[in-house]
Amino acid sequence: MYILAIDTSCDDTSVAILKDGHNILSNLVSSQHDIHERFGGVVPELASRRHLENIIPMIKLALKEAKIESKDIDVIGVTYGPGLVGSLLVGLMTAKGLAYSLRKPFIGINHMEGHIFSAILEHRELYPPFMALVVSGGHTDLVLVRRYFSYEVIGSTRDDAAGEAFDKVARLLDIGYPGGPAIERFARLGKIDYNLPRAIPEGYDFSFSGLKTAVSRLLKGEVDLPSVAYSFQEAVVDVLVDKSLKACINYKINKLAVSGGVAANKRLRERFLEEAPKYGIKIYFPSLSMCTDNASMIACATYYRYLAGYRSDFTLNAESYCSYPNG
Ligand code: KG4
Ligand code: ZN
Repeated sequence: MYILAIDTSCDDTSVAILKDGHNILSNLVSSQHDIHERFGGVVPELASRRHLENIIPMIKLALKEAKIESKDIDVIGVTYGPGLVGSLLVGLMTAKGLAYSLRKPFIGINHMEGHIFSAILEHRELYPPFMALVVSGGHTDLVLVRRYFSYEVIGSTRDDAAGEAFDKVARLLDIGYPGGPAIERFARLGKIDYNLPRAIPEGYDFSFSGLKTAVSRLLKGEVDLPSVAYSFQEAVVDVLVDKSLKACINYKINKLAVSGGVAANKRLRERFLEEAPKYGIKIYFPSLSMCTDNASMIACATYYRYLAGYRSDFTLNAESYCSYPNG
C-alpha cells in the first residue's frame, strides 16, 4: 500500500511516500530557515507563500524518487493542525485536490499524533501501552497512550515549550536560529556548570520561563558564554528526564517514546539512555532526521488510521489549536 503524506504545519514543507506504513520510499523536507533566520522566528505570511511555491514540485519529486506514479497512491495523509493556519491550508487544500482528482481516500492527521508515530515508524515493536514525551517548538507534553488513537495528556508546560526555550536562549546568546541545534553545538565548548534553577511544578507539568530569566540575569555578569549554553541545556535535560521517568514509574509503564525536535538533542538522548535502564524502562527515539518535522511520521499515522477504518471528508478544516485526538 502506497501512502503519500504532506505536512506544512509550520515553516518546513514536507512530503513523503511510504510503503506499508514503515518503509520510507521518499522523505523530502524543504526547510525555510534561510528566510526566517533574520527575523529570529517564523513569519507566517512568508511561510505560507513558500509552501505554495514548494508543494507541487515536491510532490512530483517525491513520486519520482519513490519510482511510482500518482495513480499508484492508495491513501493520502495530511496534517490539519495544530500549526499556522495559512501554512496548514496549503497542505490541506493540496491533499484534498489530490484525493478528489485521483478518487482516493484522504485522512487528516493531528501533527502531535504524527510526532508520536515518528517513534512507531522506526520501531514496529513499540505498541501501546506506552508513555510519550513530545518535545517540540510548540509543545512539551507527557502523553499516556493506553491504546492506539487514545491520548491522555498527564503533563504539559505551563509557559514556554522546551524547544521555544532553546530558541529564546539562543537569541539571548545571539548564536542563531533554530536555537536547539545552535545551543547543542555551542554547549560542547562549555566547561562550567552554573547550576541554573530547575523549576519543578507539581505533578507532571513543566515550566521553562524561569530558566530563561535566570539565563538573562546570568548574562548581565562576566560569564563564559558556551558554559551558559551548557548549563541551560543541562537544566532542561534534567527536568525532562526526571519527570518522564517518574511518570513511567508511577503509571507502571515500561516503554517511553521521546519525539519532537528537541528529541534530536544528543545530550538529552544520552541522559535518557543512562537513566532509563536503572528503572527497567526502554526508550524509543526516532532517528535524528525524524525528530524534527517531516511527513513520514504523518504517513505512518495515516497508515495505522487507514487500517483502523478512519477516513476524512472534504469538510475537514485547518485548526491552529487542537488537542490530541481521542478516537
Ligand atoms: O518538532 P519540530 O521540528 O517543530 C515543531 O513542531 O515545533 O521542533 C522544532 C524545535 C525548535 O524549537 C528547535 O530549536 C528544537 O526543536 N530543536 C532542538 C534540536 N533540534 C531542534 N532542540 C534542542 N536540541 C536540538 N538538537
Ligand atoms: Zn512538529
